[in-house]
Amino acid sequence: MHAWVEIDLEAIRQNVTAIRRALRFSVDFIAMVKGNGYGHGALEVSRAALEAGATHLGVAFVSEGRELRAAGISAPILVLGSFSESEIEDLLTYRLTPSVAERDLAASLSEAALGRGVRTPIHIEIDTGMGRLGVDWREGEALVEAMTALPGLAVEGIYTHFSTADESDPTFTRLQMKRFHQVSEGLKQRGIFIPFRHNSNSAGLLGHPELAQDAIRPGLAIYGLYPNRQENPAVLLQPALTFCSRVVLVKRMGAGTFVSYNRTFRLPDPRFIATISVGYADGYPRNLSNRGSVLIRGERYPVVGNVTMDHIMVDLGRDATAVSRGDRVTLLGRDGSECITAEEVAEAAGTINYEVTTRITSRARRVFLDQGTS
Ligand SMILES: Cc1ncc(COP(=O)(O)O)c(C=O)c1O
Repeated sequence: MHAWVEIDLEAIRQNVTAIRRALRFSVDFIAMVKGNGYGHGALEVSRAALEAGATHLGVAFVSEGRELRAAGISAPILVLGSFSESEIEDLLTYRLTPSVAERDLAASLSEAALGRGVRTPIHIEIDTGMGRLGVDWREGEALVEAMTALPGLAVEGIYTHFSTADESDPTFTRLQMKRFHQVSEGLKQRGIFIPFRHNSNSAGLLGHPELAQDAIRPGLAIYGLYPNRQENPAVLLQPALTFCSRVVLVKRMGAGTFVSYNRTFRLPDPRFIATISVGYADGYPRNLSNRGSVLIRGERYPVVGNVTMDHIMVDLGRDATAVSRGDRVTLLGRDGSECITAEEVAEAAGTINYEVTTRITSRARRVFLDQGTS
């Protein structure tokens, strides 16, 4: 069998529960399931998160929300990325709640909603320092006020997104919050009450739980991953994803033999080499060439030679080996007492844990393990 991904849905449920319990007060819970649920499978993760008490789902794009609706998800879905005029009909048809901070786009949305005889809820992002989407905080009050005047829209929420909440220095996060509060207070003084204010991504709620407002928006943490190194985590999370494949060949190669493209690894002496059916077309990072390792039968073996599109090779050592064709290989996850974490892979590949799971492609089939409800 070719590479696959096992997702522990009970771990997702437990992570959602652990996050909810860690907050001392009750807030709405927007489970971020964009990017195919950070590579875990958006639909199944959504169901598990909702079962465990999430109240909303968050995606980046209309197409992601549409897929969830088409699969029967009825919970509120926020589209927190961007959309274009051509997607307005889908937003309304699929009852998706967009984030919008552009006056012309909001006017078009309002008109289309009125055309259907509805008022559509929207959220507005206040850019307090992220420097990506949303309205500059200095223009926030005026924009929100203008949006509340559009008859086809109901401004349900305002929010901001932290850019450095995963860093140890809280100064910039506090400044972002101060700016956000300033906008909220200014709106109150103008007599505008927005029911929903939210700011907390995973790093925000783990590092600054006191900042949580009416809702939280964790992504990474619901998958059991931390946004930064944690010595003594206040919230215990369990990684939900295991990335696996199989040994397809074990071969003894002589001293001096090169392994894989570009001859980057040369055997110093005769070795047993296992070929494993996973490659960068599955999202196994090519940067793990001569750097990664895998687990087979609870033992760790180094990746040798370049990672190819469909296969990698590992060094089993000099002696005849217990490993044989068909053996399960753990590329990411636990096997016995050994574990390869997303952080370990990220460090070796020169990236972050978010990217490691999100980039596992659809060629690696998702298999959902569920000891919880079924
Ligand atoms: C607007 C917004 N909110 C929340 C999140 C969730 O962030 P995290 O996965 O760090 O919890 C993201 C993801 O980047 C986001 O873009």
